[in-house]
Amino acid sequence: MSENVFSSCRAFVFDAYGTLFDVGSAVAHHRSRIGNEADRLSTLWRQKQLEYTWLRSLMGDFVDFWSVTGDSLDYAMAATGRTDPALRAKLMETYLSLDIFPDVTATLTSLKERGHKIAILSNGARHMLISAAKASGILPLLDAILCVDDIKTYKPHPTVYKLASDALELDPGEIAFQSSNGWDIAGAGHYGFKTAWINRAQQPVEMLSYQADATLSQLDELLPLIGQSS
Ligand code: LAC
Repeated sequence: MSENVFSSCRAFVFDAYGTLFDVGSAVAHHRSRIGNEADRLSTLWRQKQLEYTWLRSLMGDFVDFWSVTGDSLDYAMAATGRTDPALRAKLMETYLSLDIFPDVTATLTSLKERGHKIAILSNGARHMLISAAKASGILPLLDAILCVDDIKTYKPHPTVYKLASDALELDPGEIAFQSSNGWDIAGAGHYGFKTAWINRAQQPVEMLSYQADATLSQLDELLPLIGQSS
């Protein structure tokens, strides 16, 4: 990986869930109540949440990410043999104030100080993203929160990535896109963004005809790759 790989980028755009916000923290906060199925519930919830976004996009049957998150939680609870409406309500509520990963605030602050634009581009519903950004304290650092509510399809459809180049009035190649999700990196790279895969879970490379410009284990490793202040 060459140094300064992102030196021509004028904006840094971030996926939200799994990249800035720790989706595992929702179940983690209620681990003692859930017991030994907690990890399975958390993994299934996230997996189904992603699948439902892709399936609904293919079906042309959009419902927003809050509904998808509730539907996938219902599936995960059923699969782990649980009927507990109070727990369901608590897990959904926790999703509005997920833990932020420890490397996020300092990295966004540093990018901002260097004069870069910063945005979130997420499948999340607008109210969910604003709530999580507020709760974690990063809202004042963001130039934009871009979500799919208006276009009614989900990443990795190219029209979603186009939201960012349109809103920021930049060519795709002037935008650095960061995500912990390998499939999201494939979609962003296919659209033409420069990409940094924040491979927090040490997953293998996705076999989707696209390789990230940089593969990092955490977000702050991005800073040495962007060169001097603009
Ligand atoms: C996001 C999820 C899907 O777009 O990671 O934020």
